[in-house]
Amino acid sequence: MKILLGKSSINIVVSIFYKRLRFHRRQALGLWNPTELERTVFPFLRCQMNNLEPAKRDNDKEVVVEKDESNMATSAAMDGVAAAALRSVLHRVNQAAECSGRGSQTIRVVAVSKTKPVSLISQVYDAGHRCFGENYVQEIVEKAPQLPEDIEWHFIGNLQSNKVKMLLTGVPNLAMVESVDDEKIANQLNRFVGSMGRKPLKVLVQVNTSGEESKSGVEPSECVELAKHVSLGCPNLEFCGLMTIGMLDYTSTPENFKTLANCRSEVCKALGIAEEQCELSMGMSGDFELAIEMGSTNVRIGSTIFGPREYPKKQS
Ligand SMILES: Cc1ncc(COP(=O)(O)O)c(C=O)c1O
Repeated sequence: MKILLGKSSINIVVSIFYKRLRFHRRQALGLWNPTELERTVFPFLRCQMNNLEPAKRDNDKEVVVEKDESNMATSAAMDGVAAAALRSVLHRVNQAAECSGRGSQTIRVVAVSKTKPVSLISQVYDAGHRCFGENYVQEIVEKAPQLPEDIEWHFIGNLQSNKVKMLLTGVPNLAMVESVDDEKIANQLNRFVGSMGRKPLKVLVQVNTSGEESKSGVEPSECVELAKHVSLGCPNLEFCGLMTIGMLDYTSTPENFKTLANCRSEVCKALGIAEEQCELSMGMSGDFELAIEMGSTNVRIGSTIFGPREYPKKQS
């Protein structure tokens, strides 16, 4: 016990020291701004205090936590804490909403369950949560039939036209596709939804606000055109708003969020709709409070609820 406590304290001190070093370096480079502390050090400390992994961003460039026996032990331990982690996230969402003068009911939390087993998702479901997100078609079509039908599934990954049919038929309770980033995929979704005779599918247009080449999403300057296409040219889709993923290393997150908010203003003007009718999906484990303060209505949170993602170990 003593050794364990000693080890984790040393880890915390070393990590804080490392964070401070980075912080001073950024300050010296003039890259620091007041929200930096909230975005990096505070969430990090909170994670340490809650004994949870600090956020790792892995959507485009995967941070691979390989699944070996010790990771499986971590998984087993996570089984006990996912529901508690969810409660802590909902509490933080509530506080961020209050800080920005909004009710927490205006913010949807999508629990991103990518790579996580059905048993762990069930635990979060049993804790009362109903909205889950997945990135891969193969994975969502395997998991969804094993879980209750009243789950609202959000597809948040890069979607290829040849997987649309599989997604729509495999997940009848698909509530939203957050990652529509070109006309071709919008048309394909529109066609299949029409042929299935299901209610219109809610979609968000994904915008690449960080300019990273690896990221999916339309350029900010093209989002009005795509939003118009979905809204006016795809009767089986319901245009609900815009989605973005901030910069991989969080360095330009506020700018990315501001860009998305500007895109919303332009889209609303072009479509003649109120801003309340255009959702903003932005904010993940490491930046969701900032995102809410900047107007997000939909946060997508994975590792803070479920623990670090696990990938099968590569065969050598
Ligand atoms: C589009 C998208 N949103 C949100 C998440 C969740 O990220 P985090 O674990 O940082 O909460 C992921 C993770 O892969 C993702 O790809």
